[in-house]
Amino acid sequence: MLGKYKAFSLALYLVVAIVFFSTEASAVKSYLFRKCEENPFCKRNRHYADQISSLSQPWEAPYEIDISTLTGLKDGTLTANILKITATGDKVELPLTVKFLKSGSVRITVDEKIRADGDIEVYGSDKLQKRRYNTLDEWALDGHIENAQDSTIEVTQTDSEISIEYGNGNKVVFVAKPFEVKFYRNGETQVILNDRGLLNYEHWRPKPTGEDAKDPQIGPYELEEGLWEDKFDSKTDKKSKGPEAIALDVTFVDYKHVYGIPEHADKLSLRETRGGPGNHEQPYRLYNVDIFEYETNSPMAMYGSIPFMQAHKPSGSAGVFWLNSADTYVDIIKTKSNDEKVLNSKQSTQTHWISEAGLLDIFVFLGDSPEEINKLYSDVTGFLQLPQTFSIAYHQCRWNYNSQDDVLEVNDNFDKHDIPYDVIWLDIEYADEKKYFLWNKKVFPDPVDMLNELDTTKRKLVTINDPHIKADENYDIFNKVDKNGLAIQDAKGGSRKGHCWPGESIWIDTLSPKARQYWDSLFASGSEFAGAATNWHIWNDMNEPSVFSGPETTAYKDDIHFGGWEHREVHNVYGLTYHNATAEALKLRYSNAQRPFVLTRAYFAGSQRVGPMWTGDNMAKWEHLKIATPMILTSGVAGMPFAGADVGGFFENPSHELLTRWYQAGAFYPFFRGHAHIDSKRREPWVPGGEYTEAISSALKLRYKLLPTLYTAFQKSSVDGSPILKPVYYISPDNEDSFDVDDEFFVGDSGILVKPITDEGAISTNIYLPDEEIYYDYNNNDITLQGAGEHSYSAPLNTIPIVVRGGHIHVVRERERRSSTLMKYDPYTVVIYLNKDGNAEGSLYADDGETYNYADGEYLETKFKFEGTTLVSTPNNGEKLSKYLESLWIEKVVIVGYKGDVGSTVQVSQDETEKSAIVSKEGNVVVVKPRVAVASEFKIELGLN
Ligand SMILES: *[C@@H]1O[C@H](CO)[C@@H](O)[C@H](O)[C@H]1NC(C)=O
Repeated sequence: MLGKYKAFSLALYLVVAIVFFSTEASAVKSYLFRKCEENPFCKRNRHYADQISSLSQPWEAPYEIDISTLTGLKDGTLTANILKITATGDKVELPLTVKFLKSGSVRITVDEKIRADGDIEVYGSDKLQKRRYNTLDEWALDGHIENAQDSTIEVTQTDSEISIEYGNGNKVVFVAKPFEVKFYRNGETQVILNDRGLLNYEHWRPKPTGEDAKDPQIGPYELEEGLWEDKFDSKTDKKSKGPEAIALDVTFVDYKHVYGIPEHADKLSLRETRGGPGNHEQPYRLYNVDIFEYETNSPMAMYGSIPFMQAHKPSGSAGVFWLNSADTYVDIIKTKSNDEKVLNSKQSTQTHWISEAGLLDIFVFLGDSPEEINKLYSDVTGFLQLPQTFSIAYHQCRWNYNSQDDVLEVNDNFDKHDIPYDVIWLDIEYADEKKYFLWNKKVFPDPVDMLNELDTTKRKLVTINDPHIKADENYDIFNKVDKNGLAIQDAKGGSRKGHCWPGESIWIDTLSPKARQYWDSLFASGSEFAGAATNWHIWNDMNEPSVFSGPETTAYKDDIHFGGWEHREVHNVYGLTYHNATAEALKLRYSNAQRPFVLTRAYFAGSQRVGPMWTGDNMAKWEHLKIATPMILTSGVAGMPFAGADVGGFFENPSHELLTRWYQAGAFYPFFRGHAHIDSKRREPWVPGGEYTEAISSALKLRYKLLPTLYTAFQKSSVDGSPILKPVYYISPDNEDSFDVDDEFFVGDSGILVKPITDEGAISTNIYLPDEEIYYDYNNNDITLQGAGEHSYSAPLNTIPIVVRGGHIHVVRERERRSSTLMKYDPYTVVIYLNKDGNAEGSLYADDGETYNYADGEYLETKFKFEGTTLVSTPNNGEKLSKYLESLWIEKVVIVGYKGDVGSTVQVSQDETEKSAIVSKEGNVVVVKPRVAVASEFKIELGLN
């Protein structure tokens, strides 16, 4: 959250009056953020790419594998040296490690020997590490990666290449000279590394001395710019370790579409970045920044970074994970189909990855489907933490609920208007002078009492907690962090001071184990802030980190973190370390008796293990509602599916219509929160009134009804990495027309297809169906749609365009309650949508929705299968069932699309007893009231009466 205060303080720093009066006051301040040509490492590498691609002769990249150094396969690993031949003819040793993982992926790491050996001079603080940043694994990876057994891998070697067969039908070939790596699956080329020869490993060299000394190591196609120092926005960045960028091109062969690399406010299928109609001029940038009032359809960096890209084509899928936490740009171009070879002309996607520092460390995943790639990627970076049920219900936030009375009044108003909600949020104004962990007691005199009051309806409180700490000698936390060196340090070795919400601040360095320990203590149960309350949870904001006075609103690249790492090297992962520290602290507070809930704004690969993200400070504009869908889909494709966007739009005031349409879309966001800027008008669901409040309320009730379906999707994602909202191409992987559809989505495996209305005044839309299956109108089950292509759907204000694909079964809860926890004991309704052949299947997952007991086998999992006239459930429960799980039951089964007669009773069998149950049919919908337990197998047969 950020706004006019920030704009004001930035303006002060900029001392550029014109900015302040600019007519573009409400647009992104794009001049604050570096374009590629303003960021020397990117400029150098794009220049290199341009030079090489304009050569008339074939280009021989100056890198080769010294085959004589190749070691035998050991523990799934091969090593060899890559040699870089410099402009002066020197050979730079770049140790190559290739790991084959048990899950069937390959990891390729290229280090730089002289830096790894510490044989270099660092022209800055003597605290700095000499080697390249090499502990990113600890944060980004899940720590349980196993290498493949040597017996599953076959290595063949000649003088010029090394060929390795691994996994199921996968092969990788390392060409020695020039260095190139080709990946094959089922005999087809899939991914090529250094296909275009853009590999550029900026090796260490001594700093040239004397005035305008030239660097003799600069090759003919290289640019000598900003190698040792550069300036942006009047701030100087000294590069103590000299140039250390790495870049590599990756070609996805025959793939027309690539996805991922969040966070960008852009389409799902990524655009080309080298100009042309509909394309970007700039590469996609990954650099966590506080980009307020962001632009839509832009490749600009945002709050989070996941350097993972997925590619998909009808015959298979591929993925690349560029494990690097430094400032990164990715260029994308698509080869044009060649007119002379129109027949079978294929289009490939060529990408160019450029990072400022760190190791070259890349994972390549090959599979038959997008889900397989999600699984392989998540095997490496970890799976979504299964959230508590309350955290997937509705959250009510605003900057700010001003007092304890205000909070409790909003809480009461939900009940008064008969609208469910689970969590109320407090933004920065609750804290005494923005000193976190201290209440402003004038307006929050008894927070523990407030927490207890919320608990009477099982509601929760979330407070914001940011990494900046007010530099105030009367603030104990500041003193402890500052004096003990637990803050991010500046290049001179003191706490980095800068400007943020509280005024002058320092930043906790959560790379430091001591800092994390200290953080733990601040959240301990019984501490003054929240007493022993168990319904208190946390929101991490500003953790890019946001530094109003810093370059590009963040920390200085030459700041120093625990371990002697430059901020430059760890920038994109810092937010994760803070998010992780907070979640760990909550786990300790609650002695692991409940799963922590911590929302984050900044994130990196691996953040899915910690908690959800949201898309930051969007605006109350239709285009922001529209872009939220592809942004959330992209997040899911990139393994971070617990994602949402501020419903209503953060900045400015939404019209009643926009607010309503946003709730209707938000009812399907995995993370569902209404939020608003401090200058905006109140907009809680009852505020607009009349038909608007009615429509918002029914969208919220639909969310609560669908919680069992959503929770089932979350659980699936927590074990297989699949998105919770699925892009259409996941359901129709062979239909190329569906590959760039990003304005509608499927909800898990439920078959529910939603197309949110995102246009002002629209009262109908076209839903795109990707296949020939029957689809049923969710709002009127008697209407069916069929045939691949667009189908018009009427959607007046009170209607969300939803259809359900035949062949799926999902489970809901129909009793309306005040909060999700109060629904815990309610019976289920099983909803069956029959496919063309009259069959369907689906599943339900349930546990206590709160603790880790599920990990000890305390859960229910049931598969439902309807064939012809019979519904069968097959439980696949965990080892132990609690009384609670045994008590769960099904009151209703709804079968949509049933053609036969049903009579008045049906046979229900469970636990060797048979009974009959009431059945009725209206239109094509059959309703059975079976009263069966979920936990044990049952069978319902229609048409036997
Ligand atoms: C935080 O990181 C540590 C170290 O990687 C890890 O063991 C732990 O599970 C993480 N905690 C959370 C809540 O993700």
